[in-house]
Amino acid sequence: MAAKRRREVSHLIVENNEEKKELTLQQRLCKYCKIFTITSVILIIIVFILAFVVLPLIFMNTVKWQEWLIFHNHNVTPQNPEFRYPEKYNMEAVENLYVTVDLSSHLSLGVWYILPEQLISNGVTPEKDLNYTKVLFDENFPVVLYLHETNGNRITPLNMYKVLRRFFHVITIDYRSYGDSNEGNLSEVDIVKDVVFMYKWLKRRTNGEVFIWGHALGAAISTRAIAELQKEKIVPTGLFLEAGFTELKELLLHNDIIKFFSWLPWFNATVVDALEYNGFRFKTQEDVVEVNCPIMIVHAEDDHVVPYTMGEELFKTAQEKRNVTVQGSVSFYLFPGNLVYDHWRIYQAPELPNYIENHIDVCREFHRVSEETT
Ligand SMILES: *[C@@H]1O[C@H](CO)[C@@H](O)[C@H](O)[C@H]1NC(C)=O
Ligand SMILES: *[C@@H]1O[C@H](CO)[C@@H](O)[C@H](O)[C@H]1NC(C)=O
Ligand SMILES: *[C@@H]1O[C@H](CO)[C@@H](O)[C@H](O)[C@H]1NC(C)=O
Ligand SMILES: *[C@@H]1O[C@H](CO)[C@@H](O)[C@H](O)[C@H]1NC(C)=O
Repeated sequence: MAAKRRREVSHLIVENNEEKKELTLQQRLCKYCKIFTITSVILIIIVFILAFVVLPLIFMNTVKWQEWLIFHNHNVTPQNPEFRYPEKYNMEAVENLYVTVDLSSHLSLGVWYILPEQLISNGVTPEKDLNYTKVLFDENFPVVLYLHETNGNRITPLNMYKVLRRFFHVITIDYRSYGDSNEGNLSEVDIVKDVVFMYKWLKRRTNGEVFIWGHALGAAISTRAIAELQKEKIVPTGLFLEAGFTELKELLLHNDIIKFFSWLPWFNATVVDALEYNGFRFKTQEDVVEVNCPIMIVHAEDDHVVPYTMGEELFKTAQEKRNVTVQGSVSFYLFPGNLVYDHWRIYQAPELPNYIENHIDVCREFHRVSEETT
């Protein structure tokens, strides 16, 4: 009897022991599970901090990153550009030259001078020894200074030159650090200073009218340059804005990388304000009010780089905030999306030459009247 009881007790103890063992195994497993969870959480937090705190902070403090975001001056098409041989791009009667815009830092810009089409058909032959400077000075065609977009160089807008050279001597430049221009600090102030220099350089080489044509970032630079020239009471004959934007920080919100960060509470402090602090303004909507010559704006409805609503905004601002009588009129041509001109193909529009011709007339009339009244 007693022996049986003892056996039962010892059996109980054994069972108990096994239960304990099982428990500790479970506990151990749970411990691993906890460690795993904690590690994952820590990793996620680290990645989050790196991506959404450290990255914006580095961006905020690194001008080079900001430049990279705004200026796409490398790897643009065409690959391996040959600026010295415009004929390789089916462009005849083009002179390639370099203009020193800043003597102290020996900074030169690459320039193409494209003869007006009519001069070629009139027998001005683009021989090796043609004196382009003399042609520019003697031949009575208006001149247009062309400023390209961020994603290109002076070769990229070839097709637009073919339209423009029907009306103008076309002078097209590469900004500092673009194309085969010298490297320089890519600040808005410096680029605009170069363009202002080029405008004056050009004015000394012609008796004719000088227009400015800017595409996208080039539109922002044109407008800013005209606002700067205005401080010296210098007014170009007319301005063309192709796919212009209202201001840089609004345009950046359409950039996929930037959009990814835009929900952060510190987005404004680390991205938007940092750009402005480092002088990347490009506030065309403000600058356009300072433009004292007629403006023509063109935009394609399906432009997926610069939304057409920005061109529309520029038009509205230029119309409402400028005194049209004193500062000149502004026109806006929106090309329907089904024509798929997008950001780069407005040159295809059959109406474009008429619009340009009309704008030249509007500008002439404006300057004739304002000369009479002063
Ligand atoms: C080209 O023409 C300009 C203006 O007429 C003149 O000053 C310059 O010396 C000429 N250049 C050459 C190489 O003949
Ligand atoms: C370019 O920028 C750097 C850094 O902001 C500055 O130290 C340097 O003096 C600038 N160079 C010129 C030529 O302005
Ligand atoms: C950033 O500033 C703009 C105004 O400039 C404001 O509309 C927006 O809500 C701000 N974003 C954040 C995340 O604070
Ligand atoms: C524009 O300027 C002219 C000349 O200063 C002035 O007479 C006219 O009233 C102004 N128009 C508007 C809409 O302000």
